[in-house]
Amino acid sequence: MDSWGYLRQIGQRRNVHPARRRQSRPHSGLRHWAGISNSGAHLEQPGTRAVPSLRYLHGAPKFSETTRFADGDVGPGGGFTWDGRAGTLKDQARIPLLASNEMANRSPAEVVAKLGKSAYAPEFREAFGTDIFEHPERAFEVALSALDAFQQIPKEFYPFNSKYDAFLRGEIELSEQEERGVALFKDPAKGNCASCHGVLSRAGQPPVFTDYDFLNVGVPRNPRIAANADPAYLIWDCVARHGAISRRAVSTAASSAHRP
Ligand code: HEC
Repeated sequence: MDSWGYLRQIGQRRNVHPARRRQSRPHSGLRHWAGISNSGAHLEQPGTRAVPSLRYLHGAPKFSETTRFADGDVGPGGGFTWDGRAGTLKDQARIPLLASNEMANRSPAEVVAKLGKSAYAPEFREAFGTDIFEHPERAFEVALSALDAFQQIPKEFYPFNSKYDAFLRGEIELSEQEERGVALFKDPAKGNCASCHGVLSRAGQPPVFTDYDFLNVGVPRNPRIAANADPAYLIWDCVARHGAISRRAVSTAASSAHRP
């Protein structure tokens, strides 16, 4: 097996390791690699956001404050996680491993020490050298690469197996009602959903229904997330991270894209 194959296999095993099964629940395939749950060293700490799905991220562009979107607007877009703070799948994988309210490892070396004692440590040694665990920095990078490789398995992460995908492939017909729905979704004078949730294939890839934009679309706060009890939470988090809330995001919120 080539090293990419090894990385995928190890990434997959890592994700379903029984000792961590409860922690990895938000990222289980059953929940489309998304969800809300408690984590931390004692599985008692709530997360501060609903975990975004890891699916269909294979085409995400790099985060930029000045992404130019198809409609000509310029604003924050791209990257991974809800605010684009991770530039690559590897950077994204690093966050939950080290966050105190997620997997609660205090350092990359602690992650590597656990890997060294895991059931798949022999596979790691076989693929990356018998002394891999004596080089924690390199071993941690390999672990992140394993998750990166795992998250690029099409069947798990971008299966394109929806009814709409089958329709685009010409495998099925839509019912009249479904055709009306698609027309509403696309019509700029009606739903206008497609202006943000692009429905066209790009560069041979079926659509992923996002332009990787960050917008406040006026979705109510989720009361199951404890951090939301503080009314200042999201706003200040966003300002701290990006310096300002983009004018576009505010004006879009005001125009209420998700008007009922
Ligand atoms: C101005 C851009 C914009 C328009 C127009 C728009 N959306 Fe969205 N939509 C978003 C953004 C941004 C999100 C992510 C919001 C979040 O969860 O914080 C979203 C989220 C969603 C989600 C949840 C997706 C998920 O993965 O959880 C659905 C479903 C959805 N939109 C459907 C629609 C429909 C149906 C329409 C048309 C009636 C529409 N949207 C119009 C920007 C838009």
